[in-house]
Amino acid sequence: MEPFSKEDTKGLSIMEFNILKNTPLYSCFSELGKKIYLPEGIFFWSGRAKKEAELNGTIGVAYSYEKDYINGGSTDWGPCYVEDVKNFFQKIDVNDIVTYASISGLSELRERWKKWIIKKSLYNEATEHEKISNLKRYTTNPIVTAGVTNAIFMNCALFLNTTDSIILPNKRWGNYDNIISRFLGANIQSFEFFHDGKFNIKGLIDAMNIVIQNQNKIILMLCFPNNPTGFVPKKEEIAELIEKLKDFYSKNNYPIIILIDDAYEPYIFSRHVSQRSIFYDIQQLEENIIPIKLDGITKELLMYGGRVGFATIGLKKEWVQNDQELEILKNEIDNKLSAINRSTISNCNHYYQTVAMKLLEDHNISEIMKKRDKIIQVLQKRYEVINALLKDMNDPNVTVDPNAGGFFIFLNLDPNLILANDFADHLLRQYKVGVIPIQNLKEKINGIRIAYSSINLDAIPEFIKRITLALKDFK
Ligand SMILES: Cc1ncc(COP(=O)(O)O)c(C=O)c1O
Repeated sequence: MEPFSKEDTKGLSIMEFNILKNTPLYSCFSELGKKIYLPEGIFFWSGRAKKEAELNGTIGVAYSYEKDYINGGSTDWGPCYVEDVKNFFQKIDVNDIVTYASISGLSELRERWKKWIIKKSLYNEATEHEKISNLKRYTTNPIVTAGVTNAIFMNCALFLNTTDSIILPNKRWGNYDNIISRFLGANIQSFEFFHDGKFNIKGLIDAMNIVIQNQNKIILMLCFPNNPTGFVPKKEEIAELIEKLKDFYSKNNYPIIILIDDAYEPYIFSRHVSQRSIFYDIQQLEENIIPIKLDGITKELLMYGGRVGFATIGLKKEWVQNDQELEILKNEIDNKLSAINRSTISNCNHYYQTVAMKLLEDHNISEIMKKRDKIIQVLQKRYEVINALLKDMNDPNVTVDPNAGGFFIFLNLDPNLILANDFADHLLRQYKVGVIPIQNLKEKINGIRIAYSSINLDAIPEFIKRITLALKDFK
């Protein structure tokens, strides 16, 4: 019998657990154990694409020919990596591998990541001295987590009761729903991400106005570059959002926690959008609009399997009287976050923390960045070509969400013409093209996500041609 048959509210098939339900294991499960399930959406489509597709746009990992980003590299197609990573693999001392790393992570790695966060701010050392000093002082020492996923989980667990709501855009990474709704049992207040092809800041604030009726805090999560759309806000949009947040704060006077999923932080391909994480602008605010930066080596240094991420909390001057209190506060926060690590993963993989630390050593970092830039350039070319081709498509039934970075682009399909799941199925069967459909009409989503991170440049025209042909079949 087909194990996947029911549909959840996102239109994804879910397991019925028909056999498991009749075992004593199931009757002993906790409420969580009974409730939790892994929706098959992405895995189902990427599994099918692996078998059926000639052109696979389902994989959210950067792939390329080695020769395209390493001088003298091979013509093998594989995951992009920073060449120097290889150099460390054999050279690590046994003491840096086999022993436990401390619960909150290797202290030297935490210090290096903090320096790295400061570097990523792009503040000018000569003219923005005050901002740099504020950033250094009023942020915690990053705690090491098992990838960005674990940092998201940790912070959602820290802030959300089952009666609380977190505000998220309708187009979001599906795993947020696993963590927030299915695991923690909290609520999601969704807003439409775009209005008239622009960031729907009004929709976001409206969602905050709904949530504040029932709770004395706002918890919001933002992710730029976004999965599944690739959206990155322009500087003006960030400025507008910040003005509206300040206005909201002054009217309601309740803290606003903003979890910032920076998983795709360095992958920005357009000069017309903000070049740095929104974390930095929010961190400088005096109001209790509190940013929490969630980032990691997984995508940033192309070491997905290394599972090293970080959570860093922005603090406010007014919370403490002096330096001593500031240090105590940082330790107190560290204790809370460490407690979540200790009671879930205990501590993170020592080996990959050591590799990350070596990559971030001052004498290595500029070379590493040069090498990573080559990979970014490979992706940027694909971004330019796929956007140009989609623009030329000129189909009134298809719109492309604004995008400027990350690994994906999102095509909205007119639901009166085609449903996304049917379209993805047709694309795969008839045209051997794999994409991830996202279909949730209640949330006003009906479209396909294309991971151009894993489609080579010269295959993109054929990829789009086949999509164009497939669309014609529905007219
Ligand atoms: C938006 C977003 N956040 C976080 C992650 C998870 O990153 P990590 O591999 O570091 O857990 C992903 C991975 O696909 C993602 O798309």
